[in-house]
Amino acid sequence: MDIANFEFNALHLPSPIEEIFDDCWNSKGIQVFVKRDDLIHPIISGNKWRKLKNYLQTFSFNTHSGLLSFGGAFSNHLYALAFAGHSLGIPTVGIIRGEELTTGSNVYLSQMNDWGMQLHFISRMDYRSKPIPPEYEKYAVISEGGFGELAILGMEDLVSELPVCDLIYTAIGTGATAIGLAKYTKNSVVGVLTLNNRAEIEEHSIPINLEIEDAYVFGKYAKQNNELDLFCAEFHQQHGIPIEPIYTGRMFYALIEHIKNGHIAPNTKLVAIHTGGVK
Ligand SMILES: Cc1ncc(COP(=O)(O)O)c(C=O)c1O
Repeated sequence: MDIANFEFNALHLPSPIEEIFDDCWNSKGIQVFVKRDDLIHPIISGNKWRKLKNYLQTFSFNTHSGLLSFGGAFSNHLYALAFAGHSLGIPTVGIIRGEELTTGSNVYLSQMNDWGMQLHFISRMDYRSKPIPPEYEKYAVISEGGFGELAILGMEDLVSELPVCDLIYTAIGTGATAIGLAKYTKNSVVGVLTLNNRAEIEEHSIPINLEIEDAYVFGKYAKQNNELDLFCAEFHQQHGIPIEPIYTGRMFYALIEHIKNGHIAPNTKLVAIHTGGVK
């Protein structure tokens, strides 16, 4: 699929990079830059474009009828896939966890339906085995959350857009972004887990320059936490950069703790990837 026009006309690439300031790190000579991948596009924002790009680019009607993937009722990944399919004329299917749901259950599902994604709601039990309905066997399958070799490859572009630095921070969900960053950079990468999936992440081949931080899950995936909500609101107010608590909030919280507790050495120049997620 020729995606060059779409990439050139609809997306803000390379995404901007901004330095942010605070006494807490300025006093140690630490520089913090934010790679604003959240500004790539209002919908295919953050790491969604980086992860999906190669699936879209290599898609061909000669071999497949469309793209199929999996996710929960609020999946950023499926939402981005639905929009990308709609924009590029690629049929899409979303297998959604939760048989009790309908296309009207939330605004994201109804929007995905309007963009033409075919939504299939299945029980949580069935979802575990990631079944592909027989009518979609000619669809190319993208794993849950977009994880895969093509997603990892998408981080090569991201690395090429980064300034010279010592350290890179990113949030980890499936691990594609962190693994890809570490694969294509020579710098150290710190990936902050947002769910308790260290064991699953470590089943992949993990580059030696990737450090996995698991102390900032705040209980479990997406669990609401007042301290984290307040942190995100204050971060937005101080730096003018919106973040959300599920991914980027946990990542920036960990980063700032790492500065305070000396885990990050004085005079380090670091880049935090804003992987989007602020819908
Ligand atoms: C906003 C946001 N940031 C980070 C991640 C985690 O990225 P990855 O799944 O590549 O680890 C996700 C989930 O995919 C996400 O939606």
